[in-house]
Amino acid sequence: MAEIPTFHPVAAGPACRASTRRGFLGAGGTTVFVASGGLITAACSVARPGPAYAPWALWNDPAVRGSPLALVAAGVLAANPHDTQPWLFHVQEGSIEVFADTSRNLGAMDPFLREMHIGLGCALENMALAAPANGYGAEIETIPGSVLDLKDRHGPAHAATVRLTRLESPQSPSSAYHAIPRRHTNRFPYDRRRPPPRAWRDTLAAPSGDPGVRLFLFDEGAGRTGYDSVVIDATKAIISDAAMIADSDRWFRGDDAEIEKYRSGPTLAVAGLSPMNRLLAGALPLPPKVKHDAWLAQTRDSQLASAPLTGLIAVRDRYDRAAAMAVGRLWQRIHLAAADAGVALQPLNQPMEMVDRDRSLGRGDEWERRLAALTGSPDWQATFSFRAGVCSHPASASPRRALSDTIIA
Ligand SMILES: Cc1cc2nc3c(=O)[nH]c(=O)nc-3n(C[C@H](O)[C@H](O)[C@H](O)COP(=O)(O)O)c2cc1C
Repeated sequence: MAEIPTFHPVAAGPACRASTRRGFLGAGGTTVFVASGGLITAACSVARPGPAYAPWALWNDPAVRGSPLALVAAGVLAANPHDTQPWLFHVQEGSIEVFADTSRNLGAMDPFLREMHIGLGCALENMALAAPANGYGAEIETIPGSVLDLKDRHGPAHAATVRLTRLESPQSPSSAYHAIPRRHTNRFPYDRRRPPPRAWRDTLAAPSGDPGVRLFLFDEGAGRTGYDSVVIDATKAIISDAAMIADSDRWFRGDDAEIEKYRSGPTLAVAGLSPMNRLLAGALPLPPKVKHDAWLAQTRDSQLASAPLTGLIAVRDRYDRAAAMAVGRLWQRIHLAAADAGVALQPLNQPMEMVDRDRSLGRGDEWERRLAALTGSPDWQATFSFRAGVCSHPASASPRRALSDTIIA
């Protein structure tokens, strides 16, 4: 097996020093000059320096190419909740065991590790796409059971095994494989008048290949109104819940030093802020309430208001481990196809986070009922929610941990 390579930083421009919390006001671009007190200050662009971003350039580096490590290097670039990167890999020549790193949980935001398992599914999809390009056949076996039975929040929990067989020669990579380093969550405002291209939307209409996973789309009418209101109300509920918002905020990285120290978690650069608001958010010590209210305003007035299309992914049992990973695989496929088609995507999972929160506290079923109204049946349990559109602002990469920190003996 190849030695785990040391990654070097990719060359890029300056980064902002900033304090951050979830969300801020308004919309905007990526680079601008802001007049302030007679001075002209350059706001940050999408530039991403430092080792925390190096895995984006090195996922198919010759140092890993053709080895099982190439699959891991692709896996760690996947979407995952709050950029917690909740995965560990045990790599052998014939297989890679994928573990949930339960210590990297989101606490009250994901009390049953449901979102964590969706994130693992996203990584599995990238690994499956990377296998043939690196000369492997890959068969993925997910561990059955319910996330409700995972009580330990400290150690690794086996979630899946990727069984590898050597191909006679590497196969031509798919377009989805090539899109792996270009896929980023885009939280900027979209253009409401420009629906995503029909060809991409048709890929959504194609069967997922798993009869236990269904997609529900909302562009206008009562369904869309119901979708928007449940996301807005769930956002209000989260910012009013001290434990939830604290467990969310805990992962935000305020400046370059934090980004390089943790190499995980959302940053100001990916918050979808206008240049002015990004600058202000970085410069001013705002009270938490102001930041949380700003997240609500951004969700309602920018992200939902500007989105021509929204959707839910639903399963029969949102707490089934295999189903959660299947949803992650589907989301990753959808997002890679979107990156290829110039479509911007952002998950908006607040309603399902409230379903989990109520369940963990033994409270009522308001969110469950509102989501069932959108899927048309309590038998289709929404477990993932998103918006889609066309956006003039490219999304930035988020940090990633060193490959060596995700590999266990
Ligand atoms: C299960 C899951 C839940 C997520 N929920 C949200 C969400 O509610 N809001 C949001 O803006 N992004 C959400 N995301 C996107 C992640 O924050 C994002 O994938 C992560 O920060 C890594 O960034 P990247 O996708 O740009 O690589 C979610 C992703 C996953 C897989």
